[in-house]
Amino acid sequence: MVRSMQADLVVVANRLPVDRITDSDGSKGWRTSPGGLVTAIEPVLRENDGVWIGWPGGTDTDLEPFTEDGMRLIPMSMSQEEIEEHYEGFSNATLWPLYHDLAARPEFHREWWDTYQRVNKRFAEKAASVAAEGATVWVHDYQLQLVPAMLRELRPDLKIGFYLHIPFPPAELFSQLPWRRQILEGLLGADLVGFQLAGAAQNFIRLVRQRVGHKTHRDLVYLPDGRTVRAAAYPISIDAAGLEELAQTESVLARSKEIREALGNPRQVFLGVDRLDYTKGIYARLRAFAEVIADGDIDVDDAVFVQVAVPSREQVETYKVLRDEIERLVGRINGDHGKLGRPAIHYLHSSYPRDEMAALYRTADVMVVTPYRDGMNLVAKEYVACRGADDGALILSEFAGAADELRQAWLVNPYDLNGMKQALVDAYRAEDRERARRMRAMRKTIRQHDVAAWADSFMTSLTEVPGNHAKTLKP
Ligand code: G6P
Repeated sequence: MVRSMQADLVVVANRLPVDRITDSDGSKGWRTSPGGLVTAIEPVLRENDGVWIGWPGGTDTDLEPFTEDGMRLIPMSMSQEEIEEHYEGFSNATLWPLYHDLAARPEFHREWWDTYQRVNKRFAEKAASVAAEGATVWVHDYQLQLVPAMLRELRPDLKIGFYLHIPFPPAELFSQLPWRRQILEGLLGADLVGFQLAGAAQNFIRLVRQRVGHKTHRDLVYLPDGRTVRAAAYPISIDAAGLEELAQTESVLARSKEIREALGNPRQVFLGVDRLDYTKGIYARLRAFAEVIADGDIDVDDAVFVQVAVPSREQVETYKVLRDEIERLVGRINGDHGKLGRPAIHYLHSSYPRDEMAALYRTADVMVVTPYRDGMNLVAKEYVACRGADDGALILSEFAGAADELRQAWLVNPYDLNGMKQALVDAYRAEDRERARRMRAMRKTIRQHDVAAWADSFMTSLTEVPGNHAKTLKP
């Protein structure tokens, strides 16, 4: 590795903040991937002149480290087998459903586990080779839970933080995993293990006590070698000020007007924005909306539901099945309830740039976020940030991490169809004053705890963990 890549801060995530794209003339380039993780980490990375290690998507192998938009990036290649067994397999067909309350049935395959270990090893080795003496390494998410311990083995001088962006399940679910102990030990390689919610950190501490047998006290784990690991909650957030500003620009406001007109100027627009994922509760939400129309509580002449479904993990079987189910349902609902020029649901299977999203959020009178389980859900926070006029209603699942902070939303249990129908009608009928009261409180929360505060508090805690390893540096 070239000397210039030695860094005091190394971010390790399954994905790079940019995607490899092929232009129409066949030439290859990079495009900044949208999404919470990138906006969250970018400022920390720049400030510390750090490097980011991750997979750029695809199977290209000829990738050299490069600088993009001032960020030093180190692409990790992934073979077809690794994509199938590490990414689609163990990460997204074993861990993802297991960590999301068994929203689908997790599959346990020993070959997937082997490949997961192998890929984690490769990421750890790369991090070890670019981290400067005594550097800080920040590892992200469920695809890389073995990296902390593997990295510590190679480089005991490093300070290692790990952050899990998705939920961490209760012991009763996690214990199904044949490799539960190895995962816990992998995470314990970190000095600080961060979660979205306090409950997740407690699940982890309890499992470490039960399954690994270490002594714990409150948020600390005491390892036999004298090291201490802290496990605590750091709820992630968004660039609230940036998004609020964007949502008030003339071009976004003009686009929002255009969207409303394209929808036929309905009295109210309902909006759902999700990766097309079975944890998001898209199917049940659309059914609830259809029933509310059938009951006569909402008329298609007055209201429309726009569902943006961002393509995701399209090679994984459960995602293919889900897509078919949702598309059949949308067809049926529009067939049953739509009129000429007035479909009940506008369904868009696509992803959109930030300014188009801001325009959609500006257009939506009722935002519907109803996952069965979600680590945080940044869509809910983005919607709130875009409501500069304190208007609009948010319907939010109590099983999204965001519900802990956004208490003034219309909170729903996504398994309770009648409850969801009631919330749709209540939010639809709510007076402007009531909507404003709730929105004002939520906007205040979002502004106070933005993504910079999140990164800051994680990094500060990481420096403060007792017995941290910068002290054991060789002279
Ligand atoms: C979730 C995960 C991320 C992941 C993202 C997109 O937010 O926490 O780690 O990158 O989904 O999923 P993908 O499989 O496309 O990386």
